[in-house]
Amino acid sequence: MHVISLISGKGGVGKTTLTTNLAIALGQRGKRVLVIDLDPQNAVRLHLAMDPGDDAGLVREGIFPEVIFHSPFGVDFIPFGRVTEEELLEFESALEARPQWVATAIQGLRVAAYDYILLDTPPGATVYLPQALKAAERALIVVLADAASYTSLSKLFKLLAEYGVQDTYPPTSTTTHILLNQMQENSELGQQVRTALMNTYGAKMAPMVIHRDAMVPEALAYERSVLQYEPDAPASRDIQHLADWLRTTA
Ligand SMILES: Nc1ncnc2c1ncn2[C@@H]1O[C@H](COP(=O)(O)OP(=O)(O)OP(=O)(O)O)[C@@H](O)[C@H]1O
Ligand SMILES: [Mg+2]
Repeated sequence: MHVISLISGKGGVGKTTLTTNLAIALGQRGKRVLVIDLDPQNAVRLHLAMDPGDDAGLVREGIFPEVIFHSPFGVDFIPFGRVTEEELLEFESALEARPQWVATAIQGLRVAAYDYILLDTPPGATVYLPQALKAAERALIVVLADAASYTSLSKLFKLLAEYGVQDTYPPTSTTTHILLNQMQENSELGQQVRTALMNTYGAKMAPMVIHRDAMVPEALAYERSVLQYEPDAPASRDIQHLADWLRTTA
């Protein structure tokens, strides 16, 4: 069972889109995949076609085999859940007191025999970030090819170093890679940021980028995954490469 967290310093970079599509790509390879939504935005449900009237999720019900949903895309998921402000505050202070909560709960899912568990997170330094890092053996840091993403990275790496020195359960350190999303080959700024990232972070860069592709939001509007909606779209091919790379390196 491989646990992978998708994280970012900045918001709106494509974590949820990539988490769910990567899960579907791994599912297409015959892998058993579970997505856990650790983001109060509760958006994984939208990408995996959950019944809009259903409020269920891990805040109220925890992370157990019994609360797993099955999506029509061949992957399973546990949504964050729709909760009140009061429930959210209470949940987050409980998480703060128990930074291993998600890691321990995931160990309890071993009976469900997943090959991959993917964790979606909110951006930046939230109470969910240490949870996601302690639970995962590897993290993908999603960035855009812009200056804000670039500058957010050093701050994020400082945070990761802080968490890395704490005890982890299971006792492995998290391998991190930077994944550039929404790359536009014809953008000069994009190319410059990509070069700067390569120069600064070199081996930490994932060996592929995900291109900006209008089919990604279009597929979501039709409640489809871009992988099924337009399998030959550049973003679909990139996500398939990402899935193959993760499979061969994890
Ligand atoms: N490769 C891509 N090409 C085109 N659009 C993309 C691509 N990746 C993501 N998007 C679009 O970018 C927007 C933000 O994506 P998403 O919600 O996945 O980001 P996020 O990092 O999860 O955001 P948040 O930090 O709010 O959780 C969405 O409209 C999504 O369709
Ligand atoms: Mg998101």
